[in-house]
Formats: sequence, structure tokens, C-alpha cells
Amino acid sequence: MYRKLTLLTLSLVVVTLYNCTTNTIDEGDIEDLPPIVEKVTYDDDVEAIITANCVGCHSGPNANAGLQLTGYANVRAAAEQGNLLNRVNNGSNPMPPGGQLPPATRQILDQWATDGYLEN
Ligand code: HEC
Repeated sequence: MYRKLTLLTLSLVVVTLYNCTTNTIDEGDIEDLPPIVEKVTYDDDVEAIITANCVGCHSGPNANAGLQLTGYANVRAAAEQGNLLNRVNNGSNPMPPGGQLPPATRQILDQWATDGYLEN
């Protein structure tokens, strides 16, 4: 009986510790994150990130740097032929200019490139 209780307590401690570590990985570098195992696509993952963080300055007739980031073709071209990923991951001159996106968000963009810029 005593032994069973000890085991139960131990496993609870382990589970609690595990949850703590997985909840605090928000800061730090992409290398510290667990790899993304699911398929990353423009429709499911990338569009929402770009719309929320980039389109305000990079769309329409007054788009900053003349860079349009609306729609799959534009975003793919900026990532594949332009320097979208370099700027997103650039610590001293990042896009958006207000500060780097969290590592988990940048990891999704990197993985999209690694997977070959899937649309859906
Ligand atoms: C607050 C406005 C603003 C936001 C938000 C913003 N940008 Fe920019 N972006 C600029 C300005 C201004 C420039 C031109 C100056 C420079 O290159 O730093 C620029 C330049 C760039 C360039 C370089 C273009 C070139 O031809 O050299 C890229 C790539 C870029 N932005 C991507 C992004 C991405 C991706 C996001 C979202 C993650 C983003 N930007 C969000 C204002 C913004």
C-alpha cells in the first residue's frame, strides 16, 4: 500500500514537472522547440500569420517597400525569391519592425519553406 502511494506521488511529480517545461518554451530560439510534425500549408497556417502581422503595411497601393503580402502567390514569391524569411528571423532588423515574432510562429514559417511552400 505504502509503496503504491509513493509510486503515485512520484508519477504526479513527473507529470507536473513535464507540464512546467512544456509551458515555458515560449521564449528562446527555434532550435529549442520540438520539431513540427504536421504538414504546414499556406491556407492552414501561414496566411493567418501574415494577415495578422504583415498585411497592414504590405498591401494596397502604398505597400511598404512595394511589397505585397496578400495571397499565396505573393507570399510564396517573397519567401522563395525574396528575403521574407531572412527579415522575419533577423534579430537586429526584423519584420515586423516592432519586434520579432515569437519563435513558435517563426518556426512555422521556416517549416513552410522546408516543406516546399505548400498551398493547402
Ligand atoms: C509597421 C509596418 C510594417 C509591418 C507590420 C511589416 N513591415 Fe515589412 N517593411 C516595412 C517597411 C517600412 C519596410 C522597408 C524598410 C526596411 O526594409 O526595413 C519593410 C520591408 C520589408 C521587407 C524587405 C523588402 C525588400 O524588398 O527588401 C520584407 C521581406 C518585409 N518587410 C516582410 C515583412 C513581413 C514578412 C512582415 C510580417 C511578419 C512585415 N514585413 C511586417 C514595414 C512593415
